[in-house]
Amino acid sequence: MASVHIKDLDITLGGNSILKSMNLDVQEGEFLVLLGPSGCGKSTLLHSIAGFYDVNDGQIIIGDKDVTWADPKDRDIGMVFQSYALYPTMNVERNMSFGLRVAGVDKAEIEKRVNRAADMLQLKELLKRRPSQLSGGQRQRVAIGRALVRDAKVFLFDEPLSNLDAKLRAELRRELKELHQNLSATMIYVTHDQVEAMTLADRIAVMRNGKIQQIDTPAVVYGKPTNVFVAGFLGSPSMNFIKGVLDVSGGRRTVRAGEFVLDVSAYPFLADAPSSQDVILGIRPEHIQIAHGGGVSSITGKIKLIEPMGAHQILWVDCQGQTLSIHTESATTYQTGATLELSVDATRASIFQGDGERRL
Ligand SMILES: Nc1ncnc2c1ncn2[C@@H]1O[C@H](COP(=O)(O)OP(=O)(O)OP(=O)(O)O)[C@@H](O)[C@H]1O
Ligand SMILES: [Mg+2]
Repeated sequence: MASVHIKDLDITLGGNSILKSMNLDVQEGEFLVLLGPSGCGKSTLLHSIAGFYDVNDGQIIIGDKDVTWADPKDRDIGMVFQSYALYPTMNVERNMSFGLRVAGVDKAEIEKRVNRAADMLQLKELLKRRPSQLSGGQRQRVAIGRALVRDAKVFLFDEPLSNLDAKLRAELRRELKELHQNLSATMIYVTHDQVEAMTLADRIAVMRNGKIQQIDTPAVVYGKPTNVFVAGFLGSPSMNFIKGVLDVSGGRRTVRAGEFVLDVSAYPFLADAPSSQDVILGIRPEHIQIAHGGGVSSITGKIKLIEPMGAHQILWVDCQGQTLSIHTESATTYQTGATLELSVDATRASIFQGDGERRL
């Protein structure tokens, strides 16, 4: 187990600056997820930690060792790639032990480690099979096993589940989480799947254009996103965004967007918010309540579209010039065209400055 510290890291590839003054501290035993859109630099960061790229500036420290210029093999890292690239002619056992055999580890020790990993990953029965005789999920587990036998200080995963179908993904996701609980190993895990990020991470680092936008627990990143980019990246359907103007008069604060007016007096502003400024109001679909039985409510809307999701349903509602998505239980039957009275819990909303770059 070891911590990982990235200090002012710059990486340039093919003349393009990919990572810019990146700072990141991963605690010993932490499960850190790097989340971000395609091309934002997640794999580049992971490969830099593994030692596959030359560093332009900055430092990489694993445990108490500066490994900025160390050879990949001297970094005590186990890595699982997106394409698991097993050796097709070797059986599972030999695939898993290959690295150890090359490193000259003695036979008894190799057997012990392979058996332990096979146990953890439920591969015991499959040790004599070749990759072509395995399912996608089993192959992926072999790839994880190959990293596990190395007794690494840090495990790096680059979208290890992205080739699998939804059901298998969910299964392996749970297994990975269990594995982390059992090993309490330091893990850095790249994904652009928000469900994986939310369910696996101790902390999530959301990246955009080679920079970390926010790093915090899943609950904070989801509940108090630092800007519109982070807010829009997590959650499905996405957070509702309304461009409006913040008015402060007396003790009352409102966000106004044409006809649409919401009282946000209860919103916990981070600092004093000046009146008459442009803002973006963000409301998660599950934080809009439907006021059954004619409760007092300031907003009314008309149902445009209904998406049944099984356990719940999404209503798309035309609301005084804004289209809002509402996450609601599936027991009530709604009709397209019906009018609803809505209430919004302003304490759970997000308000950003007009350019979307900062939470207010
Ligand atoms: N060898 C290279 N030379 C030049 N540019 C590169 C090289 N490798 C990657 N890039 C560029 O660096 C940026 C970041 O790439 P990276 O692979 O780290 O993204 P990513 O976040 O892992 O994306 P994805 O989710 O698609 O895997 C991209 O714009 C990519 O085109
Ligand atoms: Mg990648």
